[in-house]
Amino acid sequence: MNKPVSVVIMGASGNLALTKLLPSLYTLYTSGALPAQFTISGYARTGMTHEEFRAKVKANLMDSVEETQLVESLVNTFISKIFYHAGNYGSVEDFGQLKTELDEVNAEFGDDIKRVFYLSIPPAVFEPVINSLRESNLVEKGNLDHFVVVEKPFGYDTDSARELNATIEQTFDESQVCRIDHYLGKEAIQNLMVMRFANIIFEPVWNRNYIESVTISWEEDKAIGDRGGYFDDAGIIRDVIQNHLLQILALVAMEQPSELTSDEIASEKNRVLRKITPFKAEDVVVGQYTDGVCSGRSVNSYRDEPGVPKDSMRDTFAAVRCEINNQRWSGVPFVVKAGKAMTKSCTEIIIQFKDVVGSIFANQPHHANKLVIRVQPEAGMIFNITNKVPGKGMVLKDVKMDFTYNSGFDVAMPGAYERLLLDAINGDKSLFISYDELIQSWELFTPILKKIDAGENEVHFYRAGTSGPEEADFK
Ligand code: BG6
Repeated sequence: MNKPVSVVIMGASGNLALTKLLPSLYTLYTSGALPAQFTISGYARTGMTHEEFRAKVKANLMDSVEETQLVESLVNTFISKIFYHAGNYGSVEDFGQLKTELDEVNAEFGDDIKRVFYLSIPPAVFEPVINSLRESNLVEKGNLDHFVVVEKPFGYDTDSARELNATIEQTFDESQVCRIDHYLGKEAIQNLMVMRFANIIFEPVWNRNYIESVTISWEEDKAIGDRGGYFDDAGIIRDVIQNHLLQILALVAMEQPSELTSDEIASEKNRVLRKITPFKAEDVVVGQYTDGVCSGRSVNSYRDEPGVPKDSMRDTFAAVRCEINNQRWSGVPFVVKAGKAMTKSCTEIIIQFKDVVGSIFANQPHHANKLVIRVQPEAGMIFNITNKVPGKGMVLKDVKMDFTYNSGFDVAMPGAYERLLLDAINGDKSLFISYDELIQSWELFTPILKKIDAGENEVHFYRAGTSGPEEADFK
């Protein structure tokens, strides 16, 4: 981890770079996780000097990083390692100038240096950027000191994902490509494998004999706001289900990888994704919010958001019920639900167990066990079990065994991007998406997306601030 590193952020003037990537790099720097010698260069079309960019980064650090971590001397040193280069994405000449500048600012690092290019750019400029990186000799195919981090969307459907990959392949080997899904950097998601495979109690019951259903639920109490232009093209399935939530499903349902390596993990995730049966029409319910109130704030109807056509049929909510056709899961419904402008912001995995057969307590009101793995807010796990109410007689009650990371660990929860950026710098790909998984996830969703894109799918309207359309409560 001692080699010097030069991180280049393409799309550096954008929101993701300023509010997530640079603050995460700062936190990595203050915790000593970055190599002693590093620089961060921003590249984008907006004309700006180094100083203007540094001022922006600093202002965003003040907003995004916890006050206790904002030590003036550290902020100043970090900022001094940041550079900015304005240029066009398709201009080999501009990329050539970037190379000259990188060679200058990294001159004291010598030749043995890592380069990480983070593409936080719109899909339309992916191809020009990747080609410019190659043609300006900023990267070398097969060089394991050169990595590219690719942000979603990785395509729009199966065909476009294949095309995008073909473009990437001209410049990088698969071993140099980190397709980022920031949900895989969240602690509660990373813990899924540990929980399942490092505890003896879960594996024996983690199957169709004991589990009634699995629900992966994602809600956000925010409306689309100024992201209408992007969102009306994408919809909630492309925005969070096809990537973040399907990854969670794969980690919940996959078999134990033979080793903790990126190849083995990716191959087990892919194996289980391939066993998901194609979605039936009645198993996909999509919705769109109308006006309402989300967490005390009035929200316009989706069709009245800026950038959204008045007759948009776009999904701001979707629920998908699917089955995994293998020995472990056959017959167990997996429901994946996601919605914008809902009652609350919460991501949970709900494992509903079956009830005890032939229990002597069958006539007492109680519920079957339920394990809720909460990803956010307040990551943790809640296990619902049946208990006797203290006192005379035999009265049963459901109680909760409640574990939160805050109560269980005396450490700050790292942000998802911190871990993933560090892994990309270290060339550890275990938390990134492989090409096979990517294509498999598009294959699952492309047929239904085509129908939604064509406005052929029924859209169920729900009021902003509610829990989505009733039709999504699969019975
Ligand atoms: C992004 C989506 O990938 O994830 C957003 O584009 C969504 O629409 C966001 O709000 C949610 O991420 P997090 O980490 O806030 O749960």
